[in-house]
Amino acid sequence: MTALDARPDTTTHRFPAAFRWGTATAAYQIEGAAAEDGRTPSIWDTFSRTPGKVRNGDTGDIAADHYHRVSEDIALMRRLGVTDYRFSIAWPRVQPTGRGPAVQKGLDFYRRLVDELLEAGIRPVATLYHWDLPQELEDAGGWPQRETAHRFGEYASIMAGALGDRVATWTTLNEPWCAAFLGYGNGVHAPGRTSALASLRAAHHFNLAHGLATGALRGALSPGSEVSLTLNLHAVRPHSDSAADLDAARRIDAVGNRVFLDPVFNGSLPEDLVRDTAAVTDWSFVLDGDLETASAPIDSLGINYYSPTVVAAGSGPAEASPWAGAEQHVRFLPAPGPRTAMDWPVDANGLHELLMRLRDDLPGVPLVITENGAAYDDYADPSGEVKDPERVAYLHAHLAAVHRAIEEGADVRGYFLWSLLDNFEWAYGYSKRFGIVHVDFATQRRTFKDSARWYAEVIARGGLAE
Ligand code: NOJ
Repeated sequence: MTALDARPDTTTHRFPAAFRWGTATAAYQIEGAAAEDGRTPSIWDTFSRTPGKVRNGDTGDIAADHYHRVSEDIALMRRLGVTDYRFSIAWPRVQPTGRGPAVQKGLDFYRRLVDELLEAGIRPVATLYHWDLPQELEDAGGWPQRETAHRFGEYASIMAGALGDRVATWTTLNEPWCAAFLGYGNGVHAPGRTSALASLRAAHHFNLAHGLATGALRGALSPGSEVSLTLNLHAVRPHSDSAADLDAARRIDAVGNRVFLDPVFNGSLPEDLVRDTAAVTDWSFVLDGDLETASAPIDSLGINYYSPTVVAAGSGPAEASPWAGAEQHVRFLPAPGPRTAMDWPVDANGLHELLMRLRDDLPGVPLVITENGAAYDDYADPSGEVKDPERVAYLHAHLAAVHRAIEEGADVRGYFLWSLLDNFEWAYGYSKRFGIVHVDFATQRRTFKDSARWYAEVIARGGLAE
C-alpha cells in the first residue's frame, strides 16, 4: 500500500465508474492556419474581417495555433487525465468549396489528431459543424437554403469514410440555435444576417442536415461508435407562476428548445411555435419527409449549459431579436447572483433543472454535458501562476449539480469542460478567456491555471471532494 492509498478517501460526490471526463474546443476558435494547406474562408473569416463585428477586430487567423501544436496540446490533455476530447472539424479545411472531393491535407490533419489521441488513450469526440460554413455555400444562400443541408450530408459522408473507423462519437451539429438565430436572426454571429424568416428557415435546414448526416454516418461507423447532436438548451425559468409568465416561458422554450427537440426526437414541429411565428412564415419550407429524416435515431444528446434564462410577461426587445418574433409579450430578466466575465449569471441550479426536465421528457436518451465552463479575467502573476478560484467554484458547483441529477435518475454519461485552452470567443475575440489552460497569445505559451490542476484531481478521484 502506498502512502496515497492510505489517505482517507475524502470524496463527497463520486461519479459512476464509466463516466467520461473531457474537455472541449472548436476548430475556428483554436486552430489558426486559416489559409494553410488548401483551407478557404468560412463565414467566420469573412465576419471577423468585417469592421465592427468582432471586438478589437480579432480574427481566428492564428488563434491558439493548435494546427501546429497538436502534440503539445495532447500532452496537456494527458496531464489532465481526460478520458475524452471533443473537437470540431473545419468544413472549409476538408472540402473548401463545400462541394466535391476532399482535400487530402485537410483530412490528414484530422487523421493525425485522432491517431495521436488514440495513442494517448483518449477517445476522440468529433463535431462536424461548429459554425464555420464554407463562405462559398453562404454566397449560394447559406443555411436558409435547403441545398446547404444536402451539402452537409455529403461532407458528413466524406468524414465518415475518412475517420469512421476511429472516431468514438460523432456530433453532427454544435448549438444550431446560435448558428441559426444569432447568425441569421440578430446578426451577432456570422454570417451576420438579420431576418426572422431566414433564421427559422436555417433552423429547419439544420434539423434536416442533422438527419441527413446521421444517415450518412450510420452506414460507415465501426461498432461501438455513436452519433449525437449538441444543443444549447435554454434553462427557461418563469419569473412567477402567473399564467402570463408561464406563457412567456412557453414561447421561449418553443423557439429556443423545442424547435430542435421536437423534430429530432418526435419527428414533429411544435404547434405553438408555428402559431407564435405565423406573422413571419407559414413554414411551407418544411417538405414531406423532412421531419422523418430529422428524427433518425441518435445515441445520445449533448447539452451545453452556462446559465439560466429568466422570463416574464412583457414586451420583447424591439429590434435585432434572435427570437423570430415569438418573443412578443416576453421580457428577459437578469437572474440574480454573481456573474462571470461574460456577465452571465452563475447559477448551477439551472443545469439541474434542465437535466430533470430531460430525464422526464426524453426517457431512454443518454445525456452528455458537452460544454460547461466560465470566462474570467485571468492573468499570469509574476511567478507565472494563474489563480482562478472563481472558475474552480463555478465548475465545482456545476459538477455537483450534475451529480445530484444523476442521483435523481438523469442518465448523464459524461462532462466536457469548456474549454481546454483560452481561445477566440466569437464576437468577443480574445477578450474572454474560457480555458483551464492559459494561452499567452503573443508567445503561444501554455500554462496550467489552478482550475486545470483542480480538474485533474477531480478526474483522478472520479468525483468531487470537500
Ligand atoms: C458555446 C459554443 O459552442 C462555444 O463555441 C463558445 O465558446 C462557448 N459556448 C462559450 O461562449
